[in-house]
Amino acid sequence: MPGRSAGGEQHRPEYEYYPSQWVEPYLDRRRQNGFALYEALGIDRRDLQRREQQMLRNYSFFDAPVGLLVTLDRRLNTGSYMDLGMFIQNILVTARGQGLHSCAQAAFAPFHAVVRRHLPLCEDTQAPENCLLTERQPVEEFASFHGFDTAAERVC
Ligand SMILES: Cc1cc2nc3c(=O)[nH]c(=O)nc-3n(C[C@H](O)[C@H](O)[C@H](O)COP(=O)(O)O)c2cc1C
Repeated sequence: MPGRSAGGEQHRPEYEYYPSQWVEPYLDRRRQNGFALYEALGIDRRDLQRREQQMLRNYSFFDAPVGLLVTLDRRLNTGSYMDLGMFIQNILVTARGQGLHSCAQAAFAPFHAVVRRHLPLCEDTQAPENCLLTERQPVEEFASFHGFDTAAERVC
């Protein structure tokens, strides 16, 4: 799903998320979902430019205040994809329980090399400096969290 306008086709995911060839009944369901989405957004399905613009909103997390990028240690195997899926699901369900909405996004998968340039993701997990677990203070020791109540226009 990489975007044309961003030269996204040069990027490839490390693992295939979607089937290389869509077959029924998934093909039709996928199309219906896409049509419903564009209809809800008032985008004509032949309007490729607006479709592209909408797709690119993935990369600003659809203006969400928080984006989480989830990675998996390459040494793990297929079962861990399931484990990680359950882990992600827990985050989504817990967020909902806290009154928050979320949106799972596979759209970042092709851009792991770009993400890696910006986040300190470990390459060499054998290197001693990467295995060292430094002692950490509990979060409450050094941080307090405040939100902004936009209705009351005050920090809470
Ligand atoms: C694993 C997974 C990956 C998804 N990837 C994207 C994505 O990259 N971009 C996007 O707009 N929606 C993506 N979606 C769809 C949305 O996360 C969401 O599921 C969809 O908007 C339907 O909302 P609902 O699940 O609350 O009904 C993905 C959904 C799942 C389950």
